[in-house]
Amino acid sequence: MEEKAQKSTNTGKTRGPEEKRAEPQAASAPSGAETKKRKIGITETGFRDAHQSIMATRLRTSDMLPICEAIDEVGYHSIEMWGGATFDSAMRFLDEDPWERLREIRKRVKKTKLQMLLRGQNLLGYRHYADDVVREFVKRMIGNGIDIVRIFDALNDLRNTEIAADQVKREGGHLQLAISYTISPVHTLDLFAKQARDMADMGADSICIKDMAGLLTPVAAHSLVKAIKEKVDLPVQLHSHYTTGLAAMAYLDGLEAGADVCDCAISPFAMGTSQPATETIVAALANGPLDTGLSLEKLLPVANHFETLKKKYSSIIMGVSGVDINILLYQIPGGMYSNLQSQLKEGNALHKLKDVLEEVPRVRKEMGYPPLVTPTSQIVGTQAAMNVLVGERWKVIPKEVRQYLLGHYGRTPAPVDPEIQKKATEGEEPITCRPGEKIKAEMDKLREEASSWCLQPEDVLSYAMFPQVAAEFLKKKFARVTMVNVGLDSPIEDGSYPV
Ligand code: CO
Repeated sequence: MEEKAQKSTNTGKTRGPEEKRAEPQAASAPSGAETKKRKIGITETGFRDAHQSIMATRLRTSDMLPICEAIDEVGYHSIEMWGGATFDSAMRFLDEDPWERLREIRKRVKKTKLQMLLRGQNLLGYRHYADDVVREFVKRMIGNGIDIVRIFDALNDLRNTEIAADQVKREGGHLQLAISYTISPVHTLDLFAKQARDMADMGADSICIKDMAGLLTPVAAHSLVKAIKEKVDLPVQLHSHYTTGLAAMAYLDGLEAGADVCDCAISPFAMGTSQPATETIVAALANGPLDTGLSLEKLLPVANHFETLKKKYSSIIMGVSGVDINILLYQIPGGMYSNLQSQLKEGNALHKLKDVLEEVPRVRKEMGYPPLVTPTSQIVGTQAAMNVLVGERWKVIPKEVRQYLLGHYGRTPAPVDPEIQKKATEGEEPITCRPGEKIKAEMDKLREEASSWCLQPEDVLSYAMFPQVAAEFLKKKFARVTMVNVGLDSPIEDGSYPV
């Protein structure tokens, strides 16, 4: 199948409407099928979610750059290549500048939209930041080349996405707001559909159903997409993980019900805890009413490249093959399951795993049914483990749980248990406003602190996200570039600069 290249601009940014392709022949469409002919988009997650899910975000920028041009030729809807844990990892483990990665990929990907994942007011860090940091961060990431920004909040409290969303719109980016999918008595189709409506009112350009645990069944995908499409006239994108073996089926049913785009990973990085394979979905839909229009031939060099990377990093690859039935049983994300496992192992309490897994739903109910995704998965998991290991429920309450019960993470989907809240907060009044409102402007202070070793305005933001890790990384970088040591704790290893 011929791909028509999109026009590229001088800046390499694409902001135009979707490229038009000739509709494929639906020769083999099943008779009586009510599905209308539509072109389905694919977002390739090989550089971000798949990379994060199966190899702990250890790919280097130099591993990615040689294949960018080929990826750009495929005709993907977008490439997810930034955000999530990649930002932290680049500095912490790879001694690499995440902003530099973004710019280098942008230089090579001229036609396809670049996409990223942003954790609302948490940005790419692990706490809420002041509004001025959020705005500056969004400004810089779009300025450096991001087209589509997927924003989510762990509690689905849209107030936590408000500032970032507003700034994405101001910068002319594509705003995608994501529903953190979960299963609970309060997470009804009505609730999710209303959320989608609220997202549209916030100016969302598209809606994502973000199923981080892989719990979305084909039946649920179908009804959820339908419920959302009835309320909003926006593109819907499906995001799931293959952990339970449901994702590809859920995609097909969701797409038939009206979803427009789905997240897939090139085959060597697919399945297990990652996404369904790009090639599989392309082949599954080919010549039907929902064709992607992508050609397997153009995906082949991409797959070969990732296969090489998989071999190169075979010691890191941690893709779970097969189906993890525990996820279906306990309805918790794979990452949370393995975290609990290793936490208990460290404390010589692995035999309590089943008790902890059974405690998770109780704690979750008492905490107002938060979806389990970073950071709520850790918060609920830690409390559940405490309750079991201490031998008395809610006797020990970690700081994060207390903060959560004081409203600092946002509004919970259902009210929290008042007795537990009272006990945890020790008489302190929980906040009910948008948590970001409570944080004073931070940019001036950060700029001042980082002034002696910043080489680019983005460095202050790296420092804001991860003060210790970034400071060490940036001082090294400063020393390398300027040959001046501004207070490194230890000299950099290669010794290629005088200190
Ligand atoms: Co994901």
